[in-house]
Amino acid sequence: MTVRGPHLVLVGMMGAGKTTAGTLAAAALGRPFLDSDAEIEARTGRTVRDIFAHEGEPAFRRLESDVVRAALAGAEPAVIAAAGGTVLDPENRAAMRGAGTVVWLRAKPGVLAERAVVGGHRPLLDDDAATTLTRLAAEREPLYLEVADEVIETDEVPLDDIVERLVALASRESVR
Ligand code: S3P
Repeated sequence: MTVRGPHLVLVGMMGAGKTTAGTLAAAALGRPFLDSDAEIEARTGRTVRDIFAHEGEPAFRRLESDVVRAALAGAEPAVIAAAGGTVLDPENRAAMRGAGTVVWLRAKPGVLAERAVVGGHRPLLDDDAATTLTRLAAEREPLYLEVADEVIETDEVPLDDIVERLVALASRESVR
């Protein structure tokens, strides 16, 4: 039997529904919900957009790696939404694989573009969100696949059904 950590870890592109589905799954499971962007904002007292604008993306990625690895190392079973770019760092991917069940919430770039709220915490989507999402998806899909234990195709699947599958996967993990 593979020894794994206790978490349910959600990965996928901006607009995949990690925060929405993760929040609901955590509530249903009675677990804390941790979102790497929210953790960064809480830790620094600054917004993701402000960090991108003033420190640049590499500095944001360093903070993101610190925060996501701290969350993955936590002992209390949690639902962790790891923001879209967290898989770029190979050490983050290694930490994810040992942390529990990793689920890739997958959606086609066209669907992501409809869902991803432009503005807010997504400065990468400021110019031509659809083209950017298509390019980032091509770069990152192999990385999501590399870490994922399960892939949920979310196009046209009702949110309730996605949450139900997440709860079932997390429950399976906790009785292993
Ligand atoms: C990013 C995803 C965003 C946020 C930042 C960069 C990315 O989080 O961390 O805008 O590179 O994919 P979500 O995945 O929660 O949208």
